[in-house]
Amino acid sequence: MSQQRTGLTRRQFLATGSAVAAAALVAGPQTVLGAEGSVPLYQERYRPQFHFTAAKNWLNDPNGLVFYEGEYHLFFQHNPHGKQWGNMTWGHAVSPDMLHWTQLDHAIWGDSLGPIFSGSAVIDWNNTAGFQAGKEKVIVCIYTSAGGSAGFAQSIAYSNDRGRTWTKYDKNPVLPQIVDGNRDPKVFWHEPSKQWVMALYLTKHDYALFGSPDLKKWTKLCDVPMPGTTECPDFFALPVDGDANNVKWVFWGGNNAYMLGSFDGKTFKPDGAPIQSHFGKNRYAAQTFSDIPPGDGRRIQIAWLAGGKYPDMPFNQQMSVPVVLSLRTFPEGVRLCLLPIKELDTLHGKQHSISGPLKPGDNPLAGIVGELFDICAELDFGAASELGFVVRGLPIAYDRKAKTLSCQGASAVVEPDGGKIRLRMLVDRTSIEIFTGDGRVTMVHCFVPPADDKALSLYAKGGDARVGSMDVWEMKSAWPQEQRAKN
Ligand code: FRU
Repeated sequence: MSQQRTGLTRRQFLATGSAVAAAALVAGPQTVLGAEGSVPLYQERYRPQFHFTAAKNWLNDPNGLVFYEGEYHLFFQHNPHGKQWGNMTWGHAVSPDMLHWTQLDHAIWGDSLGPIFSGSAVIDWNNTAGFQAGKEKVIVCIYTSAGGSAGFAQSIAYSNDRGRTWTKYDKNPVLPQIVDGNRDPKVFWHEPSKQWVMALYLTKHDYALFGSPDLKKWTKLCDVPMPGTTECPDFFALPVDGDANNVKWVFWGGNNAYMLGSFDGKTFKPDGAPIQSHFGKNRYAAQTFSDIPPGDGRRIQIAWLAGGKYPDMPFNQQMSVPVVLSLRTFPEGVRLCLLPIKELDTLHGKQHSISGPLKPGDNPLAGIVGELFDICAELDFGAASELGFVVRGLPIAYDRKAKTLSCQGASAVVEPDGGKIRLRMLVDRTSIEIFTGDGRVTMVHCFVPPADDKALSLYAKGGDARVGSMDVWEMKSAWPQEQRAKN
């Protein structure tokens, strides 16, 4: 019996706990590729062009983000059998640049321990788990076995062939249920204490850290309460203002809030309350890559753009663009900044550069039409009381007096910098990702634009403003022509 056939939604399933969940098993492998209807896969009207989507069916959280031997791996919560949440497995895709993805076979299917919920992946460089069979280093996935014979417990699976085939550890689970519903293990190697560390969501607003020498035996290190936050933790260190001698730990939760603090290999001590980084409607369950080479050194994150609509499409839901995280000092304190990866520039097509006066009634973007844009703007209010964009019918407005940026009824406070605001907006077929306040403030929105509206506008109200500088790039699709033809 699948969750779908029990008629449970994702929330109901999680709220119901193990008893019903135990019945929710996953059927065996089946292919997900192939044309549906008259429109070939990847050529559909609402297929995002530079955001990852599964070829078919439902996806939610990014899982197991890891880099190995020139490949970025993106695993993802996937229902192989339907367009709604259910039957959770780990789908799998690889990419050389986090933009051009090739979907592989499913990596992990459900079993008697339950369907496969969210988790992470690491490279076991020193073969601590003893799974290494040949020269290749082993990729180990750590995931939640959700509500089968052991309740909600943490399990592992490994690959000796760069993620092409997977073996589940025969003594799973490696961490038995602590409280019903505990889930979403995020694991990393902590060199100073020479152990693997796992951040795990427990229940309500409670998380905990665990330590292990070998990914198989886990002991609790400390509790991490995080008011207002649930699910999908991440935990990592970042330099403040690029200073390697001033490092802070970031404990991240499912709703894009984070706590800064310190970690000594045993206890995470937060400096203060959770801080919110996202103010839009559709960003959730983000996690960062493991094992990015030190020479690159970036902390790169992908989120699920939760809740978008994709009318009549063979797939449902999309991922965010990858973003780079950094800690910077602002007047209000140290803040986490999220900014798109530089690789996105490789998708830039035709460029439109604009600067100069912006009077009420002007629209310097008139005549630029399309579906995919990267917009980078520095706007000076001058005498205006409101500045804004309309992107394919979707208004994004900045109110000077209230100091708020608003979109789809959501708003964020953004302090202008010397009377100026800077915005980066990535527009795909059904989404817009807005980065402002140097990345301290993100607003991510899904929308279904009218087919006949491909226009952009920029406007000022209440007085004359000025476009300090602005570049609008038409974006190219990340789905290569061959892949679109192949599928
Ligand atoms: C977050 C979440 C996770 C869980 C997964 C199930 O979106 O609820 O807590 O592991 O989705 O699909």
